[in-house]
Amino acid sequence: MGLANAIEIDDLKRTFTRRAPNALARLFTRRRTGTGTNADGGSGAGADSSAEAGPNAAGLANNAKRPNSLVAVDSISFDIRAGEIFGLLGPNGAGKTTTIKMLCTLLEPTSGTARVAGFDIVREPARVRASLGTVLSGERSLYWKLTGRENLDYFAALYDVEPSTAHRRIDDLLTRFELTDKASELVERYSTGMRQRLSIARALLANPPVLLLDEPTAGLDPQSARNLRDVVRKLRDEGHTVLLTTHYMAEADELSDRIAIIDHGRVIALDTPTALKEHIQQLHSVEVEIDRAPDGILDELHSLPLVRGVECVQSSNGHETWTIRVLTENSRQTLDALLDLLRAEGERVLNLRVAEPTLEDVFIALTGKSLRD
Ligand SMILES: Nc1ncnc2c1ncn2[C@@H]1O[C@H](COP(=O)(O)OP(=O)(O)O)[C@@H](O)[C@H]1O
Ligand SMILES: [Mg+2]
Repeated sequence: MGLANAIEIDDLKRTFTRRAPNALARLFTRRRTGTGTNADGGSGAGADSSAEAGPNAAGLANNAKRPNSLVAVDSISFDIRAGEIFGLLGPNGAGKTTTIKMLCTLLEPTSGTARVAGFDIVREPARVRASLGTVLSGERSLYWKLTGRENLDYFAALYDVEPSTAHRRIDDLLTRFELTDKASELVERYSTGMRQRLSIARALLANPPVLLLDEPTAGLDPQSARNLRDVVRKLRDEGHTVLLTTHYMAEADELSDRIAIIDHGRVIALDTPTALKEHIQQLHSVEVEIDRAPDGILDELHSLPLVRGVECVQSSNGHETWTIRVLTENSRQTLDALLDLLRAEGERVLNLRVAEPTLEDVFIALTGKSLRD
């Protein structure tokens, strides 16, 4: 391809109009108001209009508080280098899928633009699509009533792959994704992992330089997820550029050459996994496990000096426990303060641990909250 950057994102923004209150719910409210009116029977017109004003007035007040547009992607700018695996990491609702959909020209940006393989997503969408293979998460990109091979035949024709090349390429893809044995089986009989591999094979039919993978391992068992990560690494080693989204910290860490952490539509950090972790290397995480919800303590912990982030995770294996994780610049001092607080509340400490920071901690340090929230 020869370009240093496979993708250049420039001030890209997308807003959505918030959905109006559901029509059925509105009808239901009106019915109930109507029924009330009927039951009242002979009561005056004044009573009627006040009964109507009640729910409507409340509805209006509610709407006034909610802005009617939601910024899903908030003016992001960064470059993805040719030949790298770039991880877009963030919690649910951060704007990952919206970004991918704009890059593959399924959604128009509200403002800003991006280039894929040198082509502008707004002005040259057809050339962008020809440079990209995309696998969106949670969307059916395959025909379940066709076999694996029939799916690839169909999409090869759709993507105008030369029939002479198509045959060989499909055989290669089936082999590479270990689907040759299952090529004649209906996709509805495939496992989730097999379907995901076939979706990537489909995206590779026209041999595009750039691949967009939206949460490629979501819903896969650990073994299939590991296999899929190997597949992604191989694609990179063969020269493809891969942009993948994930909300799994460990996956982004293991797979990506560089990571952009995205939250509420904004990029809050961008670097190599190592650099992101070095950034907080002076930090430690102090963990205590207790057997009651730690009501007031979390706020107090947040306001302690040297504390950079606090999270609390509830778990139940047999009995319920709560694990408080505190990210701190001084583990000794924070540990003392934490134990004092717990003692004052009469909490029983089940477990205690001081650990090196993880990439999860980078996110907590930057946002003050956990990715799992
Ligand atoms: N078609 C849409 N209409 C309205 N809001 C949307 C639409 N698609 C996404 N959103 C909202 O935009 C935000 C970002 O969503 P998304 O890009 O899917 O996040 P992610 O993929 O990181 O989970 C969310 O708040 C989501 O509810
Ligand atoms: Mg998504």
